[in-house]
Amino acid sequence: MTTKPSKKRKPAPESSSAPQSGGIFWTIDGHLTPPSFLTLIAVPLILSGKFLYGGVILAIAMLVAIQIAMTQIKEEEKQAIRYNILEPDDIIAELEELEEAKQQSAESNEMTDTDKTKCLACLSALAMKHKRINNEGNKTFPLLCQQAAYLTLRLLPKDSEAVGSSIALLALVAKNEEVRQRNKYQADVYGLDRPIQGLQAVLEMAKKEQDEEREGELAETLRKGCLFFGALSDNDKDLNLSTTIVEEEGLELILDIANWFRFHEEIANWSMWAIFILCYDCIQNKVELIRLAGVTTVCSLLENNATSLEVTRHCIAILYDLLREGNTEAGKKYNYDPWAVRTQALAAGLHNTVVKAMNEFSDSMDIMMMGQEMLLGTGYRGDIPQFQQI
Ligand SMILES: *[C@@H]1O[C@H](CO)[C@@H](O)[C@H](O)[C@H]1NC(C)=O
Ligand SMILES: *[C@@H]1O[C@H](CO)[C@@H](O)[C@H](O)[C@H]1NC(C)=O
Ligand SMILES: *[C@@H]1O[C@H](CO)[C@@H](O)[C@H](O)[C@H]1NC(C)=O
Ligand SMILES: *[C@@H]1O[C@H](CO)[C@@H](O)[C@H](O)[C@H]1NC(C)=O
Repeated sequence: MTTKPSKKRKPAPESSSAPQSGGIFWTIDGHLTPPSFLTLIAVPLILSGKFLYGGVILAIAMLVAIQIAMTQIKEEEKQAIRYNILEPDDIIAELEELEEAKQQSAESNEMTDTDKTKCLACLSALAMKHKRINNEGNKTFPLLCQQAAYLTLRLLPKDSEAVGSSIALLALVAKNEEVRQRNKYQADVYGLDRPIQGLQAVLEMAKKEQDEEREGELAETLRKGCLFFGALSDNDKDLNLSTTIVEEEGLELILDIANWFRFHEEIANWSMWAIFILCYDCIQNKVELIRLAGVTTVCSLLENNATSLEVTRHCIAILYDLLREGNTEAGKKYNYDPWAVRTQALAAGLHNTVVKAMNEFSDSMDIMMMGQEMLLGTGYRGDIPQFQQI
C-alpha cells in the first residue's frame, strides 16, 4: 500500500489560515497559542456550571484570536496593496534599499521574513503591472522588471519562492531586445549565471522534497525556468544567447530537470521545447547536447509521455534536427558526429518509440514526415506507419 506524503500532511483547518507564521490555535512548533489556552480554561468552568466566568474567558479568547488573525493577514496584504499603487521606479528603490541594508549588515547574511515578504510583494506588483504597461509599449518598464528580478536574485539567491518569482518575471520580459542585450553585454550584473544557479538550487530542493504539494510548486518554478531559457533564445539572431546559456551550464540544468521529472508532462513539454530552441541552427549546442547524453533523455521522455502530442512533437523535432545535421562545414569545425546521435538514439530504443509515436499520432503531418525520414535514415527494416488523414 502506498500513502502519499501530502495526505499525511494536510493541514488541520485551524492552522490553514496562516501557514507561514503558525495558526491561531497552534504555533508552528505545536504549542498552544493564548486563544486555545484560554478556551481550555473556559471549558471546565462552563462544564462545572460557572457560565459567567466561562463565557467571559471564551469571549476574551475570541477577541485575542481575531486580533491575531488581523495582524497576520494584514502584514502580507498591506505590502501587496502598498506595492500595487507604487510606481515601478519606487519599487526598484525599495529593493535597492533592502540590498543596501543587507550589505551594511554583512555579518548577518540572512534576510528577515519581513524583508522577504517585501521582495516578493515587489515582484508580484511588477508582474501585475506588466500586462497593463507592456501593452502601452513602454520601453523602460521591461528593463525595470529585469532589474527587480536580479536585485531579488542577489538578495535571496537560494530561496525557492524568490527564485520562482524572479524567473517568472524574467520570462515575461525575455523577448525584449534591450533586456537581452543586458544579459549579453552587462553580464557582470545581468549575467545568466544567476538565474541558472538559482534554478539549480531549486532543483536540488525538489530532489529532497517529500511533500507532494511543495514539490509541485518547485516543479512549476523549474518549468518556468525552461520556458525562460527557450523564450530568451527564441528568434535570437545576433546575440547568441543560446550559446551563452549552454556555456553557463543551462543545458545541463534543463536535462537534469527533464530527467528528474521524467513523468511530469508539462516539464517534459517545456524542457523539450527549450532544448529544441537552444539547439536549432546551433551546431555547438548540438555537440554539447550529445556530449551530455541528451539524446538518451529525449528518447526516454518520448517514451514516457507517448500520449502527449506536444511532448511527442518536440522530442521528434529535436531528434530529427540532430540526425539531419550531416557533414556540413560548421559540423566539421565543431567535430559534429551524426553517428554518435544515431548510436545513442538506437541504444535508447529510437525505432520502437518512433513507430509507437507515429501510430499514436498518424494524423499529424509533421510527426509522420519526420518520423518516416528518421526511420529510413537509421536503417529501420520494419513496416513504417502511414499518414492517416481524418
Ligand atoms: C515607462 O514606465 C516608467 C516606469 O513606470 C515611467 O517612469 C516612464 O515615464 C514610462 N514612460 C512612458 C513613455 O510611458
Ligand atoms: C554569434 O555567433 C556567430 C557564429 O558563431 C558569430 O559570427 C557572431 O559574431 C556571434 N555574435 C555575437 C554577438 O557574439
Ligand atoms: C507545450 O509547449 C508549447 C510550446 O511550444 C506551448 O505552446 C503549449 O501550450 C505547451 N502545452 C502544454 C500542455 O503545456
Ligand atoms: C505522461 O507520463 C506519465 C507517466 O508515464 C503519465 O502518468 C501521464 O498520464 C502521461 N501523460 C500523457 C498526456 O501522456
